[in-house]
Amino acid sequence: MTYSCKIALAKAYKKLYKSNINSASLDAELLLSFTLKKSREHILAHPEIKLNERQVKKFNDLIAQRAKHVPLAYLTKEKEFYGRKFYVDERVLVPRPETEIIIDELRMRNYELGMNANIIDIGTGSGCIIITLAKELNILHSKICNLQLFATDISQDALAVAKKNARMHGVDKKIKFLHGNLLEPFIKSLGVTRCALRDLVVTANLPYLDSDMKNLLKSSNSQALKYEPRLALDGGADGLNLYRELSDQVKQLIKLFPKLKITLLCEIGETHGEEIKKIFSFAKNVEIKKDLAGLDRISVIKF
Ligand SMILES: C[S@@+](CC[C@H](N)C(=O)[O-])C[C@H]1O[C@@H](n2cnc3c(N)ncnc32)[C@H](O)[C@@H]1O
Repeated sequence: MTYSCKIALAKAYKKLYKSNINSASLDAELLLSFTLKKSREHILAHPEIKLNERQVKKFNDLIAQRAKHVPLAYLTKEKEFYGRKFYVDERVLVPRPETEIIIDELRMRNYELGMNANIIDIGTGSGCIIITLAKELNILHSKICNLQLFATDISQDALAVAKKNARMHGVDKKIKFLHGNLLEPFIKSLGVTRCALRDLVVTANLPYLDSDMKNLLKSSNSQALKYEPRLALDGGADGLNLYRELSDQVKQLIKLFPKLKITLLCEIGETHGEEIKKIFSFAKNVEIKKDLAGLDRISVIKF
């Protein structure tokens, strides 16, 4: 059976709406645009365009998956972050808009970066943070002569996606990708190279949902979470296990390099601000920043 874009969209909207997809109309349009390889605007301007049988089948398959709350980004295999497109699939968390605050913070603080700055993004996932920094700091920091960029992840699958994105954005030669637990592979690599280390900026959007995500999964808004890697979401009983482990590793780093200036920018859960202050109470300063909804979202910690 074949039919027009107008009819295809009406049927798809009905199915998605019934399945409690909040953005039913937009998602239907985006999936049709993906199926036909035409812009959303073109499709809306030409509702009479006919889909052939192959297109109808592809579109209906995509709508059926979206109706089961598979994230749109996993279906189209891309997500925009800080104005750039990133490849994503089931191996990585879909980048979230609130994570862009980390980039804004670093851009605002660019003047603080020294001549031998190192930036390491831990739990890099799709690589959206470190790749964006590689692009943005390239634009802002022509004066910085020795900026070194690193990224780690415990998941080899995630690292494969991050490397693919780094190649796509032409920064694969600028970033060293390391496999392992939080800062551990970075600390090990320092032991080998004994490189001069003065300024270190650590960015981290680590898993911060508590292990019992059942309440969250009940809300139709969060159904998509069940398709994302557990390793990217589960932060232990209270969601803060990884941050506790990170604080131990930072202490170890300070012992090894007592003169090192460390700034840690991490994304945190909306109720985690006070607990993060306690976990990093040995820091010189801990600042909690809020997101656009007025919730705790980013902590800027100086050691
Ligand atoms: C919430 S996702 C964030 C991904 C990406 N940085 C972003 O902001 O979209 C957390 C990432 O941390 C990784 N991860 C989980 N435990 C880790 C650990 N112990 N060491 C390093 N990475 C870890 C996961 O594999 C996942 O890619």
